[in-house]
Amino acid sequence: MDGVASSVTARLAAPSSSLDGAAPRAPRGPSRGPNAPLLARGARIVARLRLATQTPRQKTALLVALIWGLTGPAPALAQDTSYPIFTADHLDATMKTLGPNVAGLQAALRDGDYATAKERAIRSREQLAVTMTFWRDHERDDAVQLVRAVLAELDALDRLLSTPEVDAARLEPRLTGIRNGCQACHGVYREQDSATGEYRLKQSAL
Ligand code: HEC
Repeated sequence: MDGVASSVTARLAAPSSSLDGAAPRAPRGPSRGPNAPLLARGARIVARLRLATQTPRQKTALLVALIWGLTGPAPALAQDTSYPIFTADHLDATMKTLGPNVAGLQAALRDGDYATAKERAIRSREQLAVTMTFWRDHERDDAVQLVRAVLAELDALDRLLSTPEVDAARLEPRLTGIRNGCQACHGVYREQDSATGEYRLKQSAL
């Protein structure tokens, strides 16, 4: 699962759990009231989910969450799709923290400090994963693929570092894969200001 998928799962899970406490205030009879069609629709969705293991109370909470989702304020993305949610400035800021994290990851691996390396790998993964939005918004499929590839390498590294006896020989290929992924994207979408030496997004490639 990639980072986006897991954050989406987390987001989907959030309303249902946060509304759990509000369940007693939920409308009692799904067949009455002005919201009846909506409630019926929600009930059908719940039924389709076939949550046989859920208690009635959990089902009510889920129903409330679904209706809340159907009637509640639309997320920013749906309100105005042209509004940049993850801007070039966000990308710049994220890359500026990702760089030192990956450098720290490499240093920790060199020192054989696998606990620190694992922390850095997880942090790097989180940071890189959010940049996916930027490339999706700009419909850069090649960049999305590169982000995915690096995320997969970071996951593989995390798995290797999670074993009791870390197999050091298998770490280097993962690091190479990560480095190649970073560089492949930089080669296309990043440019350096010749005067200041600063990096920036290569707008012409978007
Ligand atoms: C899909 C594209 C993409 C991938 C993958 C990617 N980057 Fe970047 N990176 C960029 C772009 C575009 C910039 C220029 C943005 C800026 O700095 O304003 C950048 C800038 C940077 C900078 C310079 C930041 C600054 O302004 O000083 C660093 C450091 C960096 N990336 C590190 C990494 C590392 C490490 C990885 C891999 C783990 C990585 N990047 C993966 C696109 C990418």
